[in-house]
Amino acid sequence: MAGSEESEAVDKRDIAILRTMEGLSRAFEWIPEDKLLERLPMDYIELARRLQKLDRLNLIDYKFVPYFDTFAARMKEKGYDTLALWDMKKHNVFKELGTVIGEGKEATILNAKDPDDEWIAIKLHRYHAPEFRRIRKTLAYAAVKARGEELNIEDHRIDVPRAKAQVEMKVLERLSELDFPVPGPRSINRHAVAMDMIEGDVSGLPAPILAKVRLENPEDALEVILEDYKDMVLQGHYVHGDFSEHNVLVTPDGELYYVDWPQAVPIEHPSAPQLCYRDIRNIIKYFERRYRMDVPDPKEVYNEIKDDVKRIMEEKRKEYEKYKKAAHRTLKAMEESAEGRPARAPGRRPHEKDGVSRGRHGRG
Ligand SMILES: Nc1ncnc2c1ncn2[C@@H]1O[C@H](COP(=O)(O)OP(=O)(O)OP(=O)(O)O)[C@@H](O)[C@H]1O
Ligand SMILES: [Mg+2]
Repeated sequence: MAGSEESEAVDKRDIAILRTMEGLSRAFEWIPEDKLLERLPMDYIELARRLQKLDRLNLIDYKFVPYFDTFAARMKEKGYDTLALWDMKKHNVFKELGTVIGEGKEATILNAKDPDDEWIAIKLHRYHAPEFRRIRKTLAYAAVKARGEELNIEDHRIDVPRAKAQVEMKVLERLSELDFPVPGPRSINRHAVAMDMIEGDVSGLPAPILAKVRLENPEDALEVILEDYKDMVLQGHYVHGDFSEHNVLVTPDGELYYVDWPQAVPIEHPSAPQLCYRDIRNIIKYFERRYRMDVPDPKEVYNEIKDDVKRIMEEKRKEYEKYKKAAHRTLKAMEESAEGRPARAPGRRPHEKDGVSRGRHGRG
């Protein structure tokens, strides 16, 4: 698992190897070991020994690749996790990593202690194909917008986990600046976002999601949620896009926090009205199902903000035009690079099923 074991087991020189591999992995999926040797201040024996260790730790794959007629190494998800966590620690985002507190297809969440002994949550975004297919258009737009000028518009192939982290960070920044109850963002590194931990009864562990709580006063809660939601759209200018009882946390004091924003859409995006209505309907239907209470008609609730949404969209039309073209190019580049995985130079990618051979260096 991503987490403390790996970060403790690897040292600076292992990190140097991972960093070099990361730099080369735009050009190569499998990186021939002589490319690494050229760039690293270590001899072949040390490099091979460390690559074997990183392979054992599941941070990379390392094997004989017939296409190159040499041993080669390939980055794995956990290799990127290790780099992101290492750099966050180096920048004092946390002093001590805790454990995995949530793991799904779309993200892994860890807890950690910051330098003041406060708990934080670190979300490692994942590439998850079905989810990506669902959100690719909005993600491309939101990611381009989130990254703005820093994107190289000529060749902005984006990496899905990083794009999700960038969007989530941007939304958390915007909404917490406006004092909405979302986890305060701390830091972003690659595909990792560090944020305030919304704690439950047990220190260091998350408050439960709305779906797991029996509310004493569901009518009030629904009212608060709908008011917050409408304000986040009209003032924050973001539509959550996956708003439900699974993405609202309830603290022991009964405060509500809204989490999980990587699929959020800026209000000027053409899908915003439809997603906004769907979010409102989802949460209302949940309260109706769960508490068998009288609930407002989702259409009426949406209609309360519909005209304002349209007006703001019209005001932001220029912004939409500005980012739209770049987003379309990004999307095309993402599709060309195996649905958002980092792009590689064509022709340099050995066949996945090349024979595995481990003879030369042995194991362990
Ligand atoms: N800032 C936070 N404070 C406390 N707990 C958090 C925080 N962020 C995430 N969590 C915990 O992790 C869970 C999943 O987080 P989130 O909803 O952001 O990601 P997700 O994409 O839905 O992940 P998954 O695919 O694992 O469900 C939350 O239900 C909550 O338990
Ligand atoms: Mg969630």
